Amino acid sequence: MTAIYRPREWDAATYDSLPLPHQGWGRGVLASPPLRGDERVLDVGAGTGRDTALLLERLPRGHVVAVDGSTAMLAQLRDRLAGVGPDRLTTLHADLTVPLTLEEPVDAVFSVATLHWVPDHASLFRSLAGVLQPGGQLRAEWGGAGNVANVEAVLVDLGLPRIGEACNFATAEQTAERLAAAGFTDIDVVCVPDPARMQSAAQFEAFLTSVVLSAVLDSIPTGQRRQVVKDVTARLPEPQVDFMRLQASARRAA
Ligand SMILES: C[S@@+](CC[C@H](N)C(=O)[O-])C[C@H]1O[C@@H](n2cnc3c(N)ncnc32)[C@H](O)[C@@H]1O
Repeated sequence: MTAIYRPREWDAATYDSLPLPHQGWGRGVLASPPLRGDERVLDVGAGTGRDTALLLERLPRGHVVAVDGSTAMLAQLRDRLAGVGPDRLTTLHADLTVPLTLEEPVDAVFSVATLHWVPDHASLFRSLAGVLQPGGQLRAEWGGAGNVANVEAVLVDLGLPRIGEACNFATAEQTAERLAAAGFTDIDVVCVPDPARMQSAAQFEAFLTSVVLSAVLDSIPTGQRRQVVKDVTARLPEPQVDFMRLQASARRAA
């Protein structure tokens, strides 16, 4: 069996119901950009909009363009931000594997837990550079080399496709080189361990099903998916996923 990459639908309701490590990752990325408050910022893989909401708070006179490839995630985002007018928020359903086109360039690009879902980082970074103003900043975090290694080991034991077959878990060095080749400067990339633990077995199964194993489960017949999640869970000694996170900041060359 081979996991097939494609922009996929997400279970937005389950996603928003879980205490995801993504929330901390988003706060971390948002802590760093030196925003004035009136910029136009692209949220790449905005999902259900938790971070888009925080971004909007940082941009009282600015605008966020929230792009995502999942209709369900974008619908949840629009619900969450129903009170925000079109002068402050644009939502865009788009596939990040093809070059983005925006009506206006943005001053900054922000992304949490998304870029590993896009297989070709060289063209992804060119696409992001292409919508950024010269001198505009990129702040992003996503899964890097060695990501989810404890789950990958169990998948190999069970003869199932690895998550890394559907995702691009690059090293910090590869990422820095690709950012430079795409026209970014002032590049800083690290890859750091950040294990996440769920509070109960039920939460862990929901987390594996809707997030961590989602690409793998796409390639498995629907009727077998629940058992696959149970088999993976049973082989992990604790309800923990060993994440490795790339954290990148860069600036589009002026
Ligand atoms: C793990 S979620 C992260 C969402 C949000 N940034 C957060 O941290 O909660 C990954 C998001 O990337 C989006 N995504 C993955 N591959 C994509 C693609 N090729 N094109 C557009 N969006 C994509 C998914 O639809 C999903 O909403």
